[in-house]
Amino acid sequence: MTTTINSTNFLDMGAAKLERVEDVAETMAGICFVLNGMRHYVSESTWKQFVAHECRQHPLMQLLQQDPLTSRAFTRPRGYAGDAVMMDMMYAAEHGYDLPAVAGISELGRKLYEYQFQSPAPKAVRARRRIICEQVDNLAIRTPKPHILSLACGHLREAYDCPALREGRLGRYLAIDQDKESLAVVEREVGPLGVETLAASVRDILKGRVPLANFDLVYTTGLYDYLTEPVARRLCEILFGMLNPGGRLLIANFLPSISNVGYMEAFADWWLIYRTEAELLRLAETLPDEQVETINLFVEENKNIAFLEVSRKS
Ligand SMILES: C[S@@+](CC[C@H](N)C(=O)[O-])C[C@H]1O[C@@H](n2cnc3c(N)ncnc32)[C@H](O)[C@@H]1O
Repeated sequence: MTTTINSTNFLDMGAAKLERVEDVAETMAGICFVLNGMRHYVSESTWKQFVAHECRQHPLMQLLQQDPLTSRAFTRPRGYAGDAVMMDMMYAAEHGYDLPAVAGISELGRKLYEYQFQSPAPKAVRARRRIICEQVDNLAIRTPKPHILSLACGHLREAYDCPALREGRLGRYLAIDQDKESLAVVEREVGPLGVETLAASVRDILKGRVPLANFDLVYTTGLYDYLTEPVARRLCEILFGMLNPGGRLLIANFLPSISNVGYMEAFADWWLIYRTEAELLRLAETLPDEQVETINLFVEENKNIAFLEVSRKS
């Protein structure tokens, strides 16, 4: 039996409210809640049809594009959703970064952005950044001059407030990304503190074109949410192989339970690969037992992002 979604009343009501810039946060909360419920209730194909034929065609779509986060994800000016400029929109207000994309937006755009900024997924992204910053700093307390690798670094925003980097307590901090524009920002802003950059893709790493080793910490945030299971597993093996004895691998991934997912897919065209804690743990199954000291999993305070943590025997 094929299920279809007939109710678009909530989209009509939402559009009418947003047109008048009325109760923006409550309206958005309602839209996100209904979308999430629908997404979980119907089959994947029914959901995709609803997104394509109802959400994308609805006047609400244009109104929501006034939010700079939604429109950056949807228009993908760099060819992929979730670029570092967009990540900055999630970090921004916390640190007052210069954000041209947010300047000069409409009143509705500003209210939509404020709503998004305070929603669980961006909060989790900010918690993820703080966790990495603490991990780097704690490592530098335990291990003198540690070597650190960040894969898919974006603008490496976790490094900006990292005391260990500022105080010259790191031996090496290598930041890899496929996006040269993002690496240029890293070079300009934290290059003078000793951060090195390397333009390379996951494909380059899988093909053995990036032979790296001797890291005390290898981490990646905002990448595994895009990787299929075979790629995710193989990359896990390679990154683990780059660790020094006693080193640690940290991999972050969004959990399937996040409350913005229906909205992100429907109006921002942002489709991530969500993993349960069990699925994330499975990525470490093919690591060599004799070299693995511990495998842990922890979840940040918003319960949206999980971290797989694998440490190598000394
Ligand atoms: C969501 S951002 C995360 C950036 C940063 N790690 C953070 O947490 O703010 C994803 C980053 O992954 C990079 N990326 C995506 N696919 C990649 C690939 N196949 N190889 C290398 N980098 C990739 C993008 O260029 C982007 O900077």
